[in-house]
Order: sequence, then C-alpha cells, then structure tokens
Amino acid sequence: MRYALISDIHANLPALEAVLHDIAGRDVDETYHLGDLVGYAPWPNETVALVNDAHIMGISGNYDSTVGTNYKHCGCKYEDPKQEEQSHLSFEWTKAHASPDVKQYLATLPFRMDLRPLGGHGAGPTVVLVHGTPTLNTLYWTEDRPDSFCLKMAQHAGAKAGDVIAFGHTHKPWHREIEGIRFVNTGSVGRPKDGDWRAGYVLLEVGDATRVELVRVGYDIDAAVRGILSSDLPHDFAEYLRTGGKPVAEVGR
Ligand SMILES: [Fe+2]
Repeated sequence: MRYALISDIHANLPALEAVLHDIAGRDVDETYHLGDLVGYAPWPNETVALVNDAHIMGISGNYDSTVGTNYKHCGCKYEDPKQEEQSHLSFEWTKAHASPDVKQYLATLPFRMDLRPLGGHGAGPTVVLVHGTPTLNTLYWTEDRPDSFCLKMAQHAGAKAGDVIAFGHTHKPWHREIEGIRFVNTGSVGRPKDGDWRAGYVLLEVGDATRVELVRVGYDIDAAVRGILSSDLPHDFAEYLRTGGKPVAEVGR
C-alpha cells in the first residue's frame, strides 16, 4: 500500500494544487491530510473545498481545531514578539474569513486516524496519523527529540514494532526508526520552515518493507505571494514563503 501524506497546507492553494498534481502522476493508493489546512495564507475556504473535492480524509491540526471552535489563540509557538503579533493577526483573519461551513468541517475533524494497510482482519502493521503527537495537536515533535520521547509517544499511541506514526506540525520533515517503529514527520505543503520554499509531503509504502520518501515540489510561489500581498494578512508572510521560513539574515547559519 502506498500512501501520500500531506500536512500543514495552511491555506496555500497554489502549493496544494501542485502537490495534488504531483501525487496524481505517481502510483499512490490513497492520500490523507494531517491537519492545519488553514492559517497564514488567503485561501482557507478554497483549500478546504479542494481537499473535499479530492475526497481526501484527514485529521485535525491545532489551527483547524482552534479556528473551528473559535478558541482564543491558535496554539502556535512563537520565536519573537513580532512573530507572535503577526500570528495573532493571521489567526483573527482566518477566523473572520473562514465560512461557517468550513469552521464546522474543521471543528469536526478527528484527532487521530489509524490505517491498516494489510486490512484490519489480521494483526498487520498500523499506521497512526496525528498532527502534533498522540497526546496533543499543539506539541512539537522535532527531529532533536530523544529516542525516549519517541518511544513514550509510541506507547501513548499503542504502537509496536512494524507500526508507523506519522505527524506534521513542525513544518520540518524527518524520519527515523527506533525499536522497529517508524516515526515520520511529513513536513509542510504550504509553509515549510526548513529553508526550502518548495512544498513538502511524504510517500509512505507499507508492505514487505516500510519505505519513506520525503518529496519536494516546486509550485507557483509568485501566485501565493501575490495572494498574500493583495490581502490584509501581514505581508511578511510572503517573504517567509520565499525563504522557506528563514529570513535572509538567517540563511547560511
Ligand atoms: Fe502548522
């Protein structure tokens, strides 16, 4: 079974379109999203519409559950006061522009999904999909987390050797195997933070062996930039997309 796992689209419609086009050209059995469909870019309703039109099922990111429930903040992490202020502006903008139907959809997304690639009638491997971690969709599961943290999360999820836990939220892709359990961070379709502006997603193959491919796809970033600049979202978000989350001063560090 071959899955495409897409996460953290963050209302970047041109990036989502490019990723779905790329997936359509590959041998993929099913595509799932891992949440954070909205926020930071001006196409929340169009993004949800495309996800639904493409019949892509998925789970709730922190942005989805907080917008959907009209929570007071998005549960995001900030690196400095300016980023915090702009993040609040983005959150308020998204709450104001997401349609009632979209909010209802976001509020009712499941927290977690379990896939059984070989069928649920046997004790085959399970693929667990969560946004952040199996405990909270706001907790950041970064690559520098120690093995002990990963195994603790696996225990929470009920995962055993041969299983896969896939998640997003940090916008930086990575994967590793510990005690036979594969941990996969999908990266971000619409707002990467690893210095590579291209949309990121994961191809996961589960069968005789488990294979993970971290895929990057170029997209019409000029369209995304134009969309941000012609909206009243913070214009710094355009530069953030162009640099893959790394302001010019930080590139090369
Ligand atoms: Fe996100």
